[in-house]
Amino acid sequence: MSLNPSVALKTQPVSLAPEDKAQIDAILTENKDQPGATMLVLTLVQESLGYISSAMQAYIAQELDVPLSHLYGVLTFYSSFRMAPIGRHQISICLGTACYVRGGPMLTEKLQQLLGIQMGETTEDGRFTLEVCRCVGACSQAPVLMVDDDIAGRVDPSQVAKILRKYE
Ligand code: FES
Repeated sequence: MSLNPSVALKTQPVSLAPEDKAQIDAILTENKDQPGATMLVLTLVQESLGYISSAMQAYIAQELDVPLSHLYGVLTFYSSFRMAPIGRHQISICLGTACYVRGGPMLTEKLQQLLGIQMGETTEDGRFTLEVCRCVGACSQAPVLMVDDDIAGRVDPSQVAKILRKYE
């Protein structure tokens, strides 16, 4: 017979960095009895710590007394939640309509190939996080990608490596 993971996790101690646990505890104390506590606590933890790791998820589920599967469902439903730390530079590829039809998917493919990661992931050295965004208001320059707050327009896949080198 296999154990339900959410049940098993409730009976095991969860290992968290003491400073992370202290911040999460403060958020839980303030909000655990509020209506919609799961969403509220997850939002505040992400604002405070930048992401919600699997250890944090297990601890929050345990403390809110909700199944881990429910909490994970909320995290995966809303794309704004992160489950891993963000890289030092955030690359956002615009896949709004204009950028999509003018080559956004090819930029996506090139970046994934160069960085060795998929959308939503961070490189092992913590340098880059790759994400999709929607129209950033520069459609006349499509296809567009952003690195942090810098916009690059009319980007050809052959230019991507050069753009990345600026952030090394
Ligand atoms: S669709 Fe990409 S900037 Fe508008």
